[in-house]
Amino acid sequence: MARDGAIYACQSCGAVHPKWAGQCPACGAWNSLAEEVVSRPPGALSPTRGAKARGLVFEGLENLSPPPKRLTTGLAEFDRVCGGGIVPGSAILVAGDPGVGKSTLLLQVCASAARRGASCAYVSGEEAVEQIRERAHRMGLADASVKLGAETALRAVVEALKREQFDLVIIDSIQTLWSDAHEAGPGSVTQVRACAGELVRLAKQRGMTVILVGHVTKDGQIAGPKMVEHMVDAVFSFEGERGYPFRILRGTKNRFGATDEIGVFEMGDAGLAEVRNPSALFLNEGGQRAAGAAVFAGIEGSRPVLVEFQALVAPSVYGTPRRAVVGWDSGRLAMVLAVLEARCGLGFGGRDVYLNVAGGLRISEPASDLAAAAALASSVLDVALPQDCVVFGEISLSGDVRPVSRSEMRLKEAAKLGFSRALAPSNADIVSGISVANVSRLSDAVARIGDQPWT
Ligand code: TYD
Ligand code: MG
Repeated sequence: MARDGAIYACQSCGAVHPKWAGQCPACGAWNSLAEEVVSRPPGALSPTRGAKARGLVFEGLENLSPPPKRLTTGLAEFDRVCGGGIVPGSAILVAGDPGVGKSTLLLQVCASAARRGASCAYVSGEEAVEQIRERAHRMGLADASVKLGAETALRAVVEALKREQFDLVIIDSIQTLWSDAHEAGPGSVTQVRACAGELVRLAKQRGMTVILVGHVTKDGQIAGPKMVEHMVDAVFSFEGERGYPFRILRGTKNRFGATDEIGVFEMGDAGLAEVRNPSALFLNEGGQRAAGAAVFAGIEGSRPVLVEFQALVAPSVYGTPRRAVVGWDSGRLAMVLAVLEARCGLGFGGRDVYLNVAGGLRISEPASDLAAAAALASSVLDVALPQDCVVFGEISLSGDVRPVSRSEMRLKEAAKLGFSRALAPSNADIVSGISVANVSRLSDAVARIGDQPWT
């Protein structure tokens, strides 16, 4: 094995530097550079020489080959995020916090696919086979013919995978694997990159799908797996708030489907249950809706989801008022507050502002601006929105309420769940059963909220 020399890889962002430094020049993290030894397999060509040897033959855009036949796992929420089942020979990264339920989800995916006749393997570097078996029994998956293995050496894993023809292989997790071709420790950037590269190559060669599990670090960055993201065909993040049973599988990259799709699950005693119709899941049930609450008619992927935004604006006891937000972007909260102050005359100076998206969902759609603003205005004015009202619309810095897409789908879903009014942009479709108050300025919306009862 030729030793090419040492490099310094940032364990936080994966950037590689020729010299050591106290701070990573790429991501700014301190003390994150670790020495790693680069090696090249004997006989490997340098990229330039390899390209010259093969030559390049241009082809046209016609002669489309038929779309790949997908393997549906039978776990509909998972198949939806994949874009309608997994594509043979593809590689998928499932990333999430430790303890969120990645192993549980993928054991279910594996068992479900096996029950449909696929040949599946589950390789764990974190748990013993007995532990996985015990969990599978508890989850009622004992009858599925999944091949279990506990191994951390990449060479052993690859050899085992070459001995049989698998359709689907789970690697739990990529950070526990190590390759003996590299001296760096398991979980280091070099090891994660090398192991992922080898497994992705194997997946393509053998037409089997490989699902890699990756842990994320405290700050939400996928450490280690971050540079795996560009090697794989799809990246799904598995999310959930502590204390809530709901888990969301969110596609953040997908070469074979839409990326804004979500799968919704509920964690229970027997593993994850699929939530087929999540639209009403995140509404705060029962009782009168209090001042500071607004129901957002949102879209997640291809499905409508209604979710309650809750705001509390209270006098601050601190010199610098607090701004706390759960489930929404804090930068957007700052923007909406600034627009409410500058364009609508509402004052937040000297007051703490809390904003929460109920149910543990994280909303990133810009169409939720107006719902957040309505919740904030309702709290400041101490006037509750009507019980049967949904809100959606994007807000610009000038104070305009901008049109958003798929208003018909949002309103139809709201009507289905018993809502009869909406505060919405001027382009909103007309849907029977819902009377829409069209607002083109945020100040109109705030005036309406203050002018109860509505007409
Ligand atoms: P796990 O899949 O091990 O998480 P990860 O692989 O992402 O680290 O899930 C761990 C959590 O899920 C653990 O706190 C217990 C909970 N859990 C249940 O509530 N019910 C179940 O049936 C299972 C298997 C796990
Ligand atoms: Mg696990």
